[in-house]
Amino acid sequence: MAANNLKGLILSGGRGTRLRPLTHTAAKQLVPVANRPILFHVLDNLQKAAVNDVGIVISPETGQAIRDAVGDGSAWGMKVSFIEQAEPLGLAHAVKVARPYLGADSFVMYLGDNLIGSGIEAFRDEFEKSGAVSSILLKEVDNPSSFGIAEVDDQQRVLSLVEKPKEPKSNLALVGIYFFTEKIHGAIDSIKPSWRGELEITDAIQLLLSQGCKVLSHRIDAWWLDTGKKDDLLTANTVVLDEWVQRKIDGEIDGASQVTGRVQLGKGSRVIGSTIRGPVVIGDDVLVENSFVGPFTSIGNGCRIISSVLEHCLLLEGARVENVDRLEDSLLGKNSAVVREQKSRQGYRLMIGDDSEVLL
Ligand code: DAU
Repeated sequence: MAANNLKGLILSGGRGTRLRPLTHTAAKQLVPVANRPILFHVLDNLQKAAVNDVGIVISPETGQAIRDAVGDGSAWGMKVSFIEQAEPLGLAHAVKVARPYLGADSFVMYLGDNLIGSGIEAFRDEFEKSGAVSSILLKEVDNPSSFGIAEVDDQQRVLSLVEKPKEPKSNLALVGIYFFTEKIHGAIDSIKPSWRGELEITDAIQLLLSQGCKVLSHRIDAWWLDTGKKDDLLTANTVVLDEWVQRKIDGEIDGASQVTGRVQLGKGSRVIGSTIRGPVVIGDDVLVENSFVGPFTSIGNGCRIISSVLEHCLLLEGARVENVDRLEDSLLGKNSAVVREQKSRQGYRLMIGDDSEVLL
């Protein structure tokens, strides 16, 4: 197979129920980590692996927002096609819906809410040279019942795969990045929906294994985050800020402020009488006044932070925090506001959705 024939298939449909109320109004794949949508990190990683023909599976509810954000893919030098899945009937169902796009080509399937701290080039190369029908990535997790789990023998060969087992045989989870040849389509046609009513890609790969097909597996050393929940998102934000952010100041900092470490401050943003300690990312047109912004905080465009202390927080576009003595480990939706009318000394941990308001 020619090196460039590998297509990409990003799964960005689904309902995202676990991130409600945030994903009532937005696709979870568009929630920003370090001020960049998770989906863009996914596209970056595919671009680095020279995957330049990409299909994105979208849902009717959030598909338009994803189309608007990604555009025609030219920002990544890719050809992007959007594929609508009418209902989120499972990862294997999404592949079925994408079959006209995929044709007979091999592809890398990438879950649009997964972030990994390494490239996928080496896995691509090995898969293409190996003649295997599939290649999967595995990583140890603390909560194996929440993932697809692999049982491997002492030579690391995969013996079996089970989706979200109640009694897991190992703690090796399937990472949401899979390589397939067209053989996967036949396997998908033969599986039945699982107890949760979804066509599971895990079951399709298990079928390939039991047919004696060659399936490669790798344990990855890099970090991996499935960003479906609030704490995962905050962890992802921390890891990405820690590893990927470089100092870049485009906004204004007044003489009474101190901005130290790896801090990004976007255009039109102002820091007045405040201290900011990196790693921190601040978007465009943000006002930080008389405040302390501590490490591992991402602040989206148009936010206002007045007389407050923030640490380890993720603020989406247009969020407002005023007179809050200490806000930590919190996720604030778009245009939301946390405002304390009378000051008191307390810390708060919040997850509040888009357009909401909390008066403390
Ligand atoms: O994150 C890794 C895990 O992802 C694996 O360990 C599991 O084996 C695999 O089943 C999957 O589990 P999740 O329960 O986390 O999958 P989730 O429903 O969150 O969907 C993952 C992505 O795929 C998400 O971006 C939404 C999208 N999706 C999901 C479904 C069910 C679709 O595009 N269509 C769908 O029908």
